[in-house]
Amino acid sequence: MPKIELLQMGAYPAGDEVALNAEYVVHRYFEVPDTAAQKAAFLAKVAPHVRAIATRGDLGAPASLINALPALEVISVYGVGYDAVDLPAARARGIRVTNTPDVLTGDVADLAVAMWLMARRRLAEAEVWARSGDWSGAGFPLTRRAFGGRAGILGLGRIGRAIGERLVGFGMAVSYSSRTEKPTPGWVYRPDPVALAAGCDVLFVATAATAQTRHVVNAPVLAALGPQGVLVNISRAANVDEQALLAALRAGTLGGAALDVFDGEPNYNPAFRDVPGLVMLPHIGSATQETRKAMGQLMRDNLAAHFAGQPLLTPVV
Ligand code: 8YV
Repeated sequence: MPKIELLQMGAYPAGDEVALNAEYVVHRYFEVPDTAAQKAAFLAKVAPHVRAIATRGDLGAPASLINALPALEVISVYGVGYDAVDLPAARARGIRVTNTPDVLTGDVADLAVAMWLMARRRLAEAEVWARSGDWSGAGFPLTRRAFGGRAGILGLGRIGRAIGERLVGFGMAVSYSSRTEKPTPGWVYRPDPVALAAGCDVLFVATAATAQTRHVVNAPVLAALGPQGVLVNISRAANVDEQALLAALRAGTLGGAALDVFDGEPNYNPAFRDVPGLVMLPHIGSATQETRKAMGQLMRDNLAAHFAGQPLLTPVV
């Protein structure tokens, strides 16, 4: 039985690459020179036989690629976010799509809380200050208390809920917005993002990125969060109006922000390097050895289930 042919959209940790190549004929699309002619020539050669795409949350699969693969049956996302996959194009051809939820929830929620503490207690600046050798005089400036405050969560899915559960341990009063009110341990439902922001000291953006959530964190939300407020984004950059965020940080009308995702990453807007009160991380929400191993396994298990004619483990479409 010849091996099934698969298109790989981006690099994976070494162990995942070994496992994928053991099961499939892997065409490494991301290594093809990024010119239209060379990509087209590559696809002309492999497209007739490619039955699967192995992609990542940040890379997805555009309609142009999906429609260039006549034998495509399944798109398996290594990541929980599938916003970069053109779902209408997949649905139109009955192509299945899977992602890797749950296995990364804890790491992403942990990082969100760490980012909040980093921003609120200015830990990155304090570390540089201590290492600089200038430890003298009055010491590092006083910062603001984190525990016992008011937290807002935009999007109460798996990750948003895990963030809230962690914040309870910090004595935080938790409110949230979501498409619908959800069963919670006494958290307050505030569907309007401006009202949610107005009532919290830290706002966590944990909603999936959709056309409806684009720039859900806009200038009015940032103004409502206010000069003592902190914004934490571990979702997708598209959920935040970056120009409004930069303006608020520069004007001091927002107390601080901690971002793990950026428009155009890794080629983010260089203006972020020069604004005060900003924690910048390189999209590491799920980036632990344990979680990435579980993500890779689940991505492959979904592929194996599809080709074995079994139910998909974590289907999106
Ligand atoms: C990605 C993420 O998987 O889960 C997601 O959607 O954003 C990440 O965890 C990342 O792009 C992995 O390379």
